[in-house]
Amino acid sequence: MIRSKDLSDTLRSEIGRFDVDIPISAATPPPASWYTDSEFHELEKASTFSSHWLFVGRIDQLARPGQYFTGSIHKRPYLVTRDQAGELRAFYNVCAHHGTRVADGCGEVEHFTCPYHGWEYDLGGGLKRAPLAGKVDQFKSGKVGLQPIPLSTWGPFILLHFGERAQDPVEQFAALSKESELMDMDALRFVTRRVFALDCNWKVFVDNYLDGGYHVPHMHAELNANLEFAEYETRLGDIYSMQSCPAKGSQRLGDLGRFLWIHPNFMINRYGPWMDTNLVLPVNEKSCLVIFDYFHVGGLAAEDETAALAESARVQAEDTEIVLRVQEGLESGVYSGLYASRLETSMHQFHRMLASDFRAFVEE
Ligand code: FES
Ligand SMILES: [Fe+2]
Repeated sequence: MIRSKDLSDTLRSEIGRFDVDIPISAATPPPASWYTDSEFHELEKASTFSSHWLFVGRIDQLARPGQYFTGSIHKRPYLVTRDQAGELRAFYNVCAHHGTRVADGCGEVEHFTCPYHGWEYDLGGGLKRAPLAGKVDQFKSGKVGLQPIPLSTWGPFILLHFGERAQDPVEQFAALSKESELMDMDALRFVTRRVFALDCNWKVFVDNYLDGGYHVPHMHAELNANLEFAEYETRLGDIYSMQSCPAKGSQRLGDLGRFLWIHPNFMINRYGPWMDTNLVLPVNEKSCLVIFDYFHVGGLAAEDETAALAESARVQAEDTEIVLRVQEGLESGVYSGLYASRLETSMHQFHRMLASDFRAFVEE
């Protein structure tokens, strides 16, 4: 992983082109290099994605010991499970022998078996068996196993921390928790997952989400017809922003939409009987994956569920179209950018938080 002393002078000067102290009315967005340069991608891994708690899944996915799910953020493959004692545990999904990915997808097991040479790990990550391996002095320590990752929970969610200094999430999410109580998440049940691969930098997706609804009347005609757009509001928190907009009481949207973004890459959208979460995963500087998980309060007829998911897919298709067009412009060599200062306050906040993450890393 990149260290701060290895950063190029060009990268340092590109970081400095975004000034966190300039108010939004006079500010310009980060330069295109933040969205197109592989060195920025590496910088984000070492800074932003190593200094914040990251959402990876939900507690109800691991109801019983041995249930597990896997994933990868910024080429850090992880494995999350519940051990025999009932504790949630997370490990790098990297075999202690030759580094093979040990588990795939999700499922339920008694222990994990590496597909390559069959080394077995218990649910606490410890090595149980290494068939035919012969004498291995390191085994005597009893410490050979999958490397642990700090894990915490917030509400129904599981979070991991890939850095060295993990702040207590309870403390870190204090203000956010008050905000999220309004979202009444406990009553919701998981419905389905959709995964989108987008040919744009992950921040283009986040920026689009954080434009204070600015693009909704232009890009989402049907959605807009069901919202009271004139009453769209944005509130900025310490590590999050909450956008909200009254809705006209359609079956899908109910009376109010709430759109909560948590730095850097997680969103919780609550509307009518529905909730969806969006997890944005950088793949490289020009592509990302977005995982949509849908939940609802239950008791919805199958055809209404299908219709609601189709409507959500239409909105997502409209957003996909736009983020690709933005990425094209960012790569054009002529982009410099402006903010619409009345509405894009939470986008500006996101950029300021990124700049602070970068600066803290550079000054390390
Ligand atoms: S790499 Fe996992 S058992 Fe050999
Ligand atoms: Fe949109």
